[in-house]
Amino acid sequence: MKKFKNLFTVLLALIVATEVQAIKITHGPYLCDMTSDGVTIVWTTDKPGVAWAEYAPDTPESFYAEARPKVFESVAGRKLATETVHRVRLKGLKSGASYRYRVCTQEVAYNSKTRTTTHGAVASTSTWTKNRFKFKTFDEKKKKLSFLIFNDVHGRASFMRETSKAVNFDSLDFVLMNGDMSNHVSDEAMIFKGYMDTAVSMFATRIPIVYARGNHEARGTFANDLIKYFPTRSGNFYYMFSIGDVCFTVLDCGEDKPDSDVEYYGLADYDAYREEQAEWLSKNVASDEFKNASTRIVFLHIPPTVEDWHGNNHLRKTLMPILNRAGVNMMFCGHTHEYSYHPANSESAFPIMINGNDACVLVTVANGKIDFSVKKP
Ligand SMILES: [Fe+2]
Repeated sequence: MKKFKNLFTVLLALIVATEVQAIKITHGPYLCDMTSDGVTIVWTTDKPGVAWAEYAPDTPESFYAEARPKVFESVAGRKLATETVHRVRLKGLKSGASYRYRVCTQEVAYNSKTRTTTHGAVASTSTWTKNRFKFKTFDEKKKKLSFLIFNDVHGRASFMRETSKAVNFDSLDFVLMNGDMSNHVSDEAMIFKGYMDTAVSMFATRIPIVYARGNHEARGTFANDLIKYFPTRSGNFYYMFSIGDVCFTVLDCGEDKPDSDVEYYGLADYDAYREEQAEWLSKNVASDEFKNASTRIVFLHIPPTVEDWHGNNHLRKTLMPILNRAGVNMMFCGHTHEYSYHPANSESAFPIMINGNDACVLVTVANGKIDFSVKKP
């Protein structure tokens, strides 16, 4: 009898262990790189697996829809099975339309002896009929846009919540993270504990993130992995997008000190990077999308015309001549940790608003007019 009891205990322990080890969604989902016809959904799991998103228009008919599209995380026709950071791009969506979605990851084990693959448990954010997430694509016809800016959060997730408590996130088109969201990027936890878990709980499952890297995100042993968490179609941290005829240019400042500074351990190559970006920017401002826009807004963490540091000066030399000729209406920056507003002057053909580290900024754009209000806790 004792033998059976022992066997039962072992079996029970195995069952419990199996349950404990079932694949789990650990962070997200959240939305990146929104356009009027697509979006990239990002989430992570504690184990690698095949990942997909299911979505459908947010209509009563789609509620029980069995034929909802499944979009897999795949590269060159092959589903990825070895990743724990999952990125699925939905394409061919309608402008200004609402969609429901859920995300799933299934464990896949490969047995090298038998050369067989076994598909295991599925982790999902919800069932199809319960607790699905929703989002709305950018509306090409929208006449009034609004967005919120967080910058220089430096891992203070609770500050994000306090400073934006009066903001109605559902009224926003996107949320800009304008640099220095962490002190550095040494591991995945710094991204999620520092700000993204809070962003997901506040808005990021339904309102897209626009990510502009700060100089502090260029530091740390995990810094090269950051783009996985904030993917763009181009694979770059500098890019352009539009909502209707309002055009946004996201720039990447690089580091503030010279590449040779002891703080960068010989790993900085930002002078060449800013020059590469200037080349891209020249082409970008010559595009029809940029030239035909009614309003042109630029996001850049380090303000180029303020302070006398190497990074600011090099941005002034490489990017500002192009922007000054391009008909930019306004630039939003951070970095100084202190609010200041700089009307157009001899160095900048457009006003520059610098948000401090003690506030977020609510911006509205309508009829070619840009308004902003600073929100403090
Ligand atoms: Fe900062």
